[in-house]
Amino acid sequence: WFAPAAALLLGYLLGSIPFGVILTRVAGAGDLRSIGSGNIGATNVLRTGRKGLAAATLLLDLAKGAAAVWLVAWLFPGNELAAAAAAFVGHCYPVWLRFRGGKGVATLMGIVLALHWPMGLIYAAVWLGLLATLRISSVAGMAAAVSAPVSGALFGRFDYVMLLLALAAIVLWKHRDNIERLLAGTEPRIGGGKSDPT
Ligand code: G3P
Repeated sequence: WFAPAAALLLGYLLGSIPFGVILTRVAGAGDLRSIGSGNIGATNVLRTGRKGLAAATLLLDLAKGAAAVWLVAWLFPGNELAAAAAAFVGHCYPVWLRFRGGKGVATLMGIVLALHWPMGLIYAAVWLGLLATLRISSVAGMAAAVSAPVSGALFGRFDYVMLLLALAAIVLWKHRDNIERLLAGTEPRIGGGKSDPT
């Protein structure tokens, strides 16, 4: 029982590091949870106007997901999926922020890249492609998350599909406010403007 329990704990602890909140505070840019959408992810860090901080948040939130998988593959082989799930849950529900964490898009990208890099490339391509064309972070993030179980099935990695389906469902659930704003045409675009051009 030791290895699975250690993988879960390590994954959760890594995933629960709220890099967006920490970097924003250290940079003197205020409390991220009272800015913009109140979310702790890179998109909301961008709303502080600090592009470098947002890029660092994206990379670190991605890296902690990948690191959880790689560390557990090295220390407790065979428990990578437990670590992946725990890191994702840690990011979305961190005990340090009273379980009010992020929406999981960047951390899931890191997890998928570490589990199976071609699937990770598809995830990144869906995310970047939609971000560049639509400039609506939530749509790009939700589509990328949903692409993960689909590409798992396409690559025949049915050992990943159930977990990725569950994690994509949590990503959608975490975006419920964004979905409401999208339906109302009030979801902001990256760089300004609303999702509804009318
Ligand atoms: O990954 C989070 C992103 O999809 C939405 O962030 O701040 O616009 O709710 P936000």
